[in-house]
Amino acid sequence: MRPPNTDNDATATVIARVLPQHRRRGLGTQLYERALGQARALDPQAIETVVLASNPDGLRFAEQHGFVEIERYLLRKGDTVPWIDLRLS
Ligand SMILES: CC(C)(COP(=O)(O)OP(=O)(O)OC[C@H]1O[C@@H](n2cnc3c(N)ncnc32)[C@H](O)[C@@H]1OP(=O)(O)O)[C@@H](O)C(=O)NCCC(=O)NCCS
Repeated sequence: MRPPNTDNDATATVIARVLPQHRRRGLGTQLYERALGQARALDPQAIETVVLASNPDGLRFAEQHGFVEIERYLLRKGDTVPWIDLRLS
């Protein structure tokens, strides 16, 4: 969980990551819910996550947990796969 930066960005960012061999047992959801609780305690204006467009599992996980796409962008010149920012709605 990256906390909101009160200077110029009041958005908390939450990203769950589980080693491939331990996925699909509910660990990602447990991690995500803990991080979400930590983020909410900081009272951010928004809670966001970020997923690479080539990661359908991550994208589905975020959407199933209530995140909605807000932006797609290439980070560097020459990149071909966009990052997707999603916001908890
Ligand atoms: C996204 C990620 C964190 C999910 O982790 P996970 O531990 O597999 O998450 P969960 O087990 O809670 O849920 C994943 C799926 O497993 C299913 N599942 C959970 N427990 C299960 C069980 N006991 N038996 C069978 N399936 C189960 C869930 O219903 C969900 O299914 P669906 O996506 O097909 O609907 C993991 O894929 C990951 O680390 N990806 C790379 C990083 C990333 O993309 N993060 C997302 C940004 S938030």
